[in-house]
Amino acid sequence: MVMMVFNELHERTAIVTGAAQGIGRITAETLAAHGMCVVLADLNEARGRQIEAKITSTGGQARFVPVDVGTSDGCKHMVDAALEHFGGLYALVNNARWHPHEMLVDVTEEDWDRSQDVLLKSHFLACKYSIPHMIAGGGGSIVGISSGHATQSSADEGPYEAAKAAIPGLMRNVAVGYGPDGIRANSILPGGIMTDVKHEAAASDPDPEADAWQARQNPVRRRGEAQDVANAVLFLVSDLAGFVSGASLVVDGGMSIELPGSVASRL
Ligand SMILES: NC(=O)c1ccc[n+]([C@@H]2O[C@H](COP(=O)([O-])OP(=O)(O)OC[C@H]3O[C@@H](n4cnc5c(N)ncnc54)[C@H](O)[C@@H]3O)[C@@H](O)[C@H]2O)c1
Repeated sequence: MVMMVFNELHERTAIVTGAAQGIGRITAETLAAHGMCVVLADLNEARGRQIEAKITSTGGQARFVPVDVGTSDGCKHMVDAALEHFGGLYALVNNARWHPHEMLVDVTEEDWDRSQDVLLKSHFLACKYSIPHMIAGGGGSIVGISSGHATQSSADEGPYEAAKAAIPGLMRNVAVGYGPDGIRANSILPGGIMTDVKHEAAASDPDPEADAWQARQNPVRRRGEAQDVANAVLFLVSDLAGFVSGASLVVDGGMSIELPGSVASRL
């Protein structure tokens, strides 16, 4: 039997938020490489246009739209752009992030509200505007990028962790509410992922010992890469995941399931 994996994605449209860099960029490039028409939604116009040019120069289909996903207008605009430029919408990958790194009592109310708008309300708004069009087109797949911080904590990440913990719950609600209409919704919980920005920072200030220590933090014994998360998105968006809905997929090399004593024995 010849397997035609991912052929169904060809010419289907995906929105990826936060697509100008990091996990969002690699996800957008991966979906485009598998034939999807990708709307790159990001605040960073300079980087976003570069990614659009990179994808289109290699024969892919991409359209950058400058939007603030923390606003209703921004989310509506990116959905309208998908319909206008590519004639439909099949997949939505909510990935953008902004949040302060401060102990909870030092977080301003303004930063709390802004972080929740970008990290969480954007998922609600993007779903609200996307789902009716996905249903009209025969179905769709929504992926919420959560984090290992949904279930584990570090001291100065309060707003981030509150939002990331809420995303799997919201995706389960979408899975149950719109499953009968052909919509699947899942979340991904990445842990410790190297991105272009982190690679650039590491290259300008190399620390091989710290890199090796980081790699020993999980049983797979290497740093996670943006491509690892993009591969999980590709699976969830594809028909291979046709019976996967409401799931929370952990992509962390097993870091979160290993007991501290087991990790300590090799550090
Ligand atoms: N990198 C990791 O180790 C890691 C681990 C777990 C989860 N995650 C999650 O993966 C996702 C991507 O992480 P990353 O490290 O690639 O992020 P990043 O910070 O490198 O990139 C975030 C992108 O979001 C865009 N953005 C910020 N605010 C926006 C707004 N209001 N509207 C539109 N775009 C906006 C930025 O311009 C940027 O391009 C995030 O949701 C993050 O929480 C990352």
